[in-house]
Amino acid sequence: MSELAERLRRELDRYSYGGKLPSSRALVERFRVSPVTVSRALAQLAAEGLVVTRPGAGAFRAGPRAAPAPAGDTSWQEVALSADGAELVPRTVDASGVTVSLAAPPPGVLEFNGGYPHPCLQPERAMAAALARAGRRPGAWGRPPLEGLPELREWFARGIGGAVTAAEVLIAAGGQSALATALRALAPPGAPVLVESPTYPGMLALARAAGLRPVPVPVDPDGVRTDLLADAFRATGARVLVCQPLFQNPTGAVLAPGRRAEVLGIARAAGAFVVEDDFVRRLVHSDSGPLPRPLAADDPDGVVVHVGSLTKATSPSLRVSALAARGPVLERLRAIQVVDSFFVPRPLQEAALELVGSPAWPRHLRTLSAELKARRDTMTAELARRLPELVLPHVPSGGYHLWLRLPDGAARAVGAGPEAEAALTAAALRAGVAVAPGRPYFSAEPPAGHVRLSFAAVASTGEITEGVRRLRAACDEVFRPGRH
Ligand SMILES: Cc1ncc(COP(=O)(O)O)c(C=O)c1O
Repeated sequence: MSELAERLRRELDRYSYGGKLPSSRALVERFRVSPVTVSRALAQLAAEGLVVTRPGAGAFRAGPRAAPAPAGDTSWQEVALSADGAELVPRTVDASGVTVSLAAPPPGVLEFNGGYPHPCLQPERAMAAALARAGRRPGAWGRPPLEGLPELREWFARGIGGAVTAAEVLIAAGGQSALATALRALAPPGAPVLVESPTYPGMLALARAAGLRPVPVPVDPDGVRTDLLADAFRATGARVLVCQPLFQNPTGAVLAPGRRAEVLGIARAAGAFVVEDDFVRRLVHSDSGPLPRPLAADDPDGVVVHVGSLTKATSPSLRVSALAARGPVLERLRAIQVVDSFFVPRPLQEAALELVGSPAWPRHLRTLSAELKARRDTMTAELARRLPELVLPHVPSGGYHLWLRLPDGAARAVGAGPEAEAALTAAALRAGVAVAPGRPYFSAEPPAGHVRLSFAAVASTGEITEGVRRLRAACDEVFRPGRH
């Protein structure tokens, strides 16, 4: 609570309910503080429900608080939510794997576990301008076509390339929603689904929430292990593989050229779909060579259901993405989307279109690309210098994170992989840096302890250096207690 807010709060009794408080200017003069301090203090009291602010009119004392409603008895829900006896596989909804990268860290804690670029890497001005222009477009608040704005579908189709057309693209509300639709469209509850190991916990959470059984297929620095894929389809009877061919989360691996046709061929032979989660195509580092096309660009038979999203290169709130598919599955995807959520709000679609069509867009992507490379280089150099015992099997040329294996000795010091991870993440938080433990990225027993370090969510390379220093202190505390 700021000092000014505290003083104002003590004075509130002087005013009647609904009575007007002194103007901001009067408060500035009386307390000799800046206008920003005044507006922050008023906002704080407003957030507590003590003050109501009306733009242009001023601030007023809020009315008396209503007594809280008596707490009801919600225990009946425990029975209702568990009464799924008829289901083969219980559907569990566990948001923890997702909230890790969405929640803001406590004040003062450096965010090495964020899933989105720091606001200073977001095209904030271009997005604001795009939103303003979008709002002025005729019919901006009308209903959009259910599949999405045609020009936006066209833009996504062009970005995928190959023979993909706008008619094969549906606009969705971010990658997460597109993945949810794809999983539900392709596999019934109880069915197995092949997933990369390790993989994005948010996708595992979606699969489990849909009642699916994720079956892991290992990933190496060349992407998903195609030598194990055919057997995995055969052994499980799965009809779906979820795969991130480009800058895989968390390993950063890119599917090797020789494996691309294999993945499609093996899936086709198994009569299975490949969900291609192309989530960070635009987060390529400036020293990367030319990017491989999405698998969907080389897929005449409609094996691939492609997911591409704008969020990672813009803001988590620009929840606009594309689902692209060929054949009857497209209608199934469309039907699920419409039933679940009707359509993506038109103003957001219009704003996305304005943004990607503006001259600021290619400029932003170039800046982002250079900044991500600089941050990756800083983080890898600092880790090599201060934490050489953490193993970095692969330095990615795109995306926003590094995937590190804990040293073998760590397990001996504090127990098996998960315990070492848990001890390290807790110690890191105490030392002032939030890191993502590896366990949620594995759908079955992990082969070793890991951590994922994101370099995009912090404010600067200086924070990366400081974060690695704090992580060093945490490692010393956990793995070499004697030296502490
Ligand atoms: C691999 C992967 N896919 C999809 C998503 C979903 O992102 P969004 O819904 O913001 O597009 C994420 C977010 O972290 C991710 O890591």
